[in-house]
Amino acid sequence: MQQATEKTFLVVGASGATGRLLVGQLLDRGARVKALVRSPVKLPETLRDHPRLLLVHANLLELGAEDLDVLTRDCDAIASCLGHNLDWKGIWGPPYRLVTEATRRLCNSMNAQHREAPGRFVLMNSAGNSNCDLDEPLSLGHRLLIGLIRVAVPPHRDNELAADWLRTRFGDGSEQMQWCVVRPDTLIDENELSDYRLYPSPTRDALFDPGRTSRLNVARFMADLMTEPDTWTRWQGRMPVVYNQAVVA
Ligand SMILES: NC(=O)c1ccc[n+]([C@@H]2O[C@H](COP(=O)([O-])OP(=O)(O)OC[C@H]3O[C@@H](n4cnc5c(N)ncnc54)[C@H](OP(=O)(O)O)[C@@H]3O)[C@@H](O)[C@H]2O)c1
Repeated sequence: MQQATEKTFLVVGASGATGRLLVGQLLDRGARVKALVRSPVKLPETLRDHPRLLLVHANLLELGAEDLDVLTRDCDAIASCLGHNLDWKGIWGPPYRLVTEATRRLCNSMNAQHREAPGRFVLMNSAGNSNCDLDEPLSLGHRLLIGLIRVAVPPHRDNELAADWLRTRFGDGSEQMQWCVVRPDTLIDENELSDYRLYPSPTRDALFDPGRTSRLNVARFMADLMTEPDTWTRWQGRMPVVYNQAVVA
């Protein structure tokens, strides 16, 4: 197995609050990172000037198959931290299926390549989404409210569809393509890494009793998945939920 220092990773949504932390985590581990961004200035200068960072200035949904192949061919794994911007246009305007379409395009591109090892894809998603392969109990109130959210907040449906596309398209991993969907609960910003716990399914109700997850911990776990073979083996084909561990006073 190659060391992280010999690997190349692609991060999409790299200019976002979590994406830039993931880029930093991967660079800190000695990896080469391609960061796909619409606006390079949104990445901090310390990252932009890093010798092992390749900035790709493009809109993913506008790239053709050939460009996607060039972008993904030398990558050991791809991570998506894409999310709809939290403004009127981002939530209710096109592209309505940003995360699903990006996931589909990137995975299909990797899947079409004859690779020595399977392509790997890590999707940042949400504890508010269920893994339909598992019996994840939901209260009646939760199911009713989620039904409303699906209609009123299109990005929620987009995140659900993206995770479900991976689950149904590749099962628990094919010879060509493997995946992991990371499900944080309410995102918070912390300056320091802290303890966190991973679970196969939510242990609390994401709508009525949400937990908290720091973006830094999400980035660290995503980087662990991409660089540590044991972590990948443990969680590939699954949808781990990440919670910050509550500090007991
Ligand atoms: N907020 C929460 O509590 C919470 C909880 C659980 C999960 N999540 C999910 O976590 C994910 C990431 O969260 P975050 O806070 O790190 O996200 P964020 O800071 O809003 O970053 C979103 C990223 O997506 C990119 N993007 C947005 N619209 C795009 C478009 N049309 N085309 C291409 N790129 C586009 C942004 O690029 P630009 O910089 O160019 O706009 C940015 O890089 C989201 O999917 C969110 O649903 C959120």
